[in-house]
Amino acid sequence: MASTITAPGLTTGKAPFVEEARSRGELYITQAYEQYSEANHEAWRKLFARIQPRWERYANDHFLRGVAALDLPHDRVPRLADINARLQPLTGFQAKPVSGYVPGFLFFDCLRRREFPTTITIRPADRMDYLPEPDIFHDIAGHVPMHTEKRFAETLVRFGDCAVTAARITAEVKDPAERVRRLTSIMRAMSRFFWFTVEFGLMRGKQGTVAYGSGLLSSYGELEHAIESDEVQRYPIQLEWVINQVAEIDHYQPILFVVDSFEHLFGLVDEFERWMIEGKLYNVAPGLPDVAESDLKSFLDAAAML
Ligand SMILES: [Fe+2]
Repeated sequence: MASTITAPGLTTGKAPFVEEARSRGELYITQAYEQYSEANHEAWRKLFARIQPRWERYANDHFLRGVAALDLPHDRVPRLADINARLQPLTGFQAKPVSGYVPGFLFFDCLRRREFPTTITIRPADRMDYLPEPDIFHDIAGHVPMHTEKRFAETLVRFGDCAVTAARITAEVKDPAERVRRLTSIMRAMSRFFWFTVEFGLMRGKQGTVAYGSGLLSSYGELEHAIESDEVQRYPIQLEWVINQVAEIDHYQPILFVVDSFEHLFGLVDEFERWMIEGKLYNVAPGLPDVAESDLKSFLDAAAML
């Protein structure tokens, strides 16, 4: 067995194990834990040590309890098997290693099965702050502690249900061009809703606003900025606003939305699904995020199977 000193490494963009799996068309892989290099563990150690005090100040209580319940290691990349052994008895969720981007429908369908597609690579230690793609720190330290909370976990499952509903109702549209147009609008709405809640959501806390969105909880810089900065507009969430709000991904978010509780968020996903069924999501405001060809295809393929 390779020692950690000679391990090839699972660094973002430089992980032969992951790239080879991808070139073979394998989406679901193993974590290949022995492949992490000492530099990879060092990157985790630094990221964790740096962000921990900010979690204590700015994260919601459920997240902090989740970090403790999962016994998230501070000194090395976590083993997904260890995380899952603690997570599964709590909400049935598990982290499932993937080789890269998971097309939209498949991603939401994983959530429906209580599986969270998880990146196993980690950013290089010299790029601690900005990473356009997710890594294991974002997925495990940012997302997974939230999956220990029952109502939040059920909210993710309901997002998965919404993807199935989107495929089902658009499958009934006879004209292929109109089917694509409606589906694209629904997907844009869903992607914005997910972005401004699961990724960048804020919540009313006992002592002010706190974060529950994983994009915030895994970003040392943006977590503080989201709560403290005058440059951020923070508004009570309104579904009709969120689904029409352009979402830019390459800088700190200038606008964020606040939920009262996870019960509140859960109710909003119900409302979202209702609006979809009532045909209210076919004309949401154009603009970012773009709906990728591969995401659209994943929904159309799912619709064809129904
Ligand atoms: Fe994420």
